[in-house]
Amino acid sequence: MKGVVLAGGLGTRLYPLTFATNKHLLPVYDKPMIYYPIDTLVNAGIKDILVVTGGPHAGDFIRVLRNGKELGIKHLEYAYQEDEGGIAEALKLAEDFADGKPICTILGDNCTDADISKEVNNFRDGAHIFVKEVPDPERFGVAAFNSEGEIVEIEEKPQSPRSRFAVTGLYIYDSTVFDKIRSLIRSDRGELEVTDLNTLYLRDGKLSWSELQGFWKDAGTIETLSEVYRYWAEKNVGLRNERE
Ligand code: DAU
Repeated sequence: MKGVVLAGGLGTRLYPLTFATNKHLLPVYDKPMIYYPIDTLVNAGIKDILVVTGGPHAGDFIRVLRNGKELGIKHLEYAYQEDEGGIAEALKLAEDFADGKPICTILGDNCTDADISKEVNNFRDGAHIFVKEVPDPERFGVAAFNSEGEIVEIEEKPQSPRSRFAVTGLYIYDSTVFDKIRSLIRSDRGELEVTDLNTLYLRDGKLSWSELQGFWKDAGTIETLSEVYRYWAEKNVGLRNERE
């Protein structure tokens, strides 16, 4: 399977840190943020990767990632998103790259140590999303479940969340994703929303889900960036102590 890392947007919630470079290149302990989502894909056996970025610092990605070999990537491509029209709009740029095959997509600020290889290997068609229980679901897309454990609704940043399960920024889509994106209309904030995209699969009865095991957080705010940084600092110190 091929992989797509979405790393566009201006990172305004991290000003002034993002005045000089793209959010996804900021340090998270000993690596630039984007290394983490790339590692998630590579560890699941995905080595053919497209990075979608945008904004004034897009060129910085080449200096950091180069051809991706050091990260275990076999083939690395870049695409440039004009404007910040949303996650689904950024994904649209992956159509030629996907070449009619399924794609595993991860948001460039999502940092996790979860292993998604089982879901990647078992994927057949439709869409697969990963959920995670969080204390602050109103910050995310939130899944609502029926008594059989099926997802019945996904709401983007609901004021009164119907569960504590956030839809993480990790998605596997079949090749119908691009036709679905073409049918989306912009939300009130002017974006093509990934939650609307996932809702189209849900309505077709083609949305499966699993719970992400391990640590997961998006590093999109100064608070979560610090938490993610601290998690990997402690994990690495722990691993080093175990080795010594
Ligand atoms: O982190 C998971 C959450 O990510 C999901 O639960 C939400 O359903 C989803 O909408 C998204 O919410 P955020 O508010 O965190 O999205 P944000 O605008 O911060 O964008 C997250 C990443 O998506 C960002 O780091 C880069 C990529 N992106 C975003 C936009 C708006 C793009 O590549 N292009 C864009 O135009």
